[in-house]
Amino acid sequence: MSELVIAIDGPVGSGKSTVARRVAEVLGYVYLDSGAMYRAVAWKALRNHVPLDSEEELQAMAGASRIDLLSTDDSFRVLVDGADVTDEIRSAAVAQAASKVAVIAGVRTVLVKEQRRAARGGGVVMEGRDIGTVVFPDAGLKIFLEASVEVRAERRRLEHAQKGECLELSEVLEEVRQRDRRDRERAVSPLVRAHDAVLVDNTAMNAEETARLIVLLARERDGAKAAVRKV
Ligand code: DC
Repeated sequence: MSELVIAIDGPVGSGKSTVARRVAEVLGYVYLDSGAMYRAVAWKALRNHVPLDSEEELQAMAGASRIDLLSTDDSFRVLVDGADVTDEIRSAAVAQAASKVAVIAGVRTVLVKEQRRAARGGGVVMEGRDIGTVVFPDAGLKIFLEASVEVRAERRRLEHAQKGECLELSEVLEEVRQRDRRDRERAVSPLVRAHDAVLVDNTAMNAEETARLIVLLARERDGAKAAVRKV
């Protein structure tokens, strides 16, 4: 199979990470989580007491930072200026801060450039919110993952429970709704389905079924590309 860029976008709890990781594994591609970059910038801002609404300072900080995403078959590590922050960026505080940092146009400009650089040469599955619309408008395959808000909240509740945090479903539902609003209603690069993205509603599918469907679509796209190359 040749080296497509596969863009997977979708709201929180739509299964992007698990599905994107699995698709990359089956196809032998590199998995890249663009959200980890926003989290990395947020982590550094919190650590250095940079105000989360200061566009100028955040853009300068993002531009002067080195963010490395190290993707192997069985692990995905995130380094900021050489320090491994993989686990720290998953905290609730960093998630909140990341959603604030992500509305800042200057930060997005810096990170989008990095994301394009990371995927040079293709053979990449990148997940996020604006991958098919802004980062790779010419991606070989674009997927927009969806699921009902109730199912997405239940998935998030289970994730929290696995980390030992027991939350009420109603609480998680409210958190998911708030994050949806922030992602979909922001002025810069809001979460929207690209006109040419395949909509996959996985409300009634598990991650493995969703990944298999995307692998089939990727193989079909790749076959079509190869046929065009022969003509
Ligand atoms: O997917 P995630 O929860 O790790 O993303 C962290 C934050 O970054 C979240 O608020 C959405 C935002 N994000 C974004 O705006 N654009 C992306 N391509 C990826 C994530």
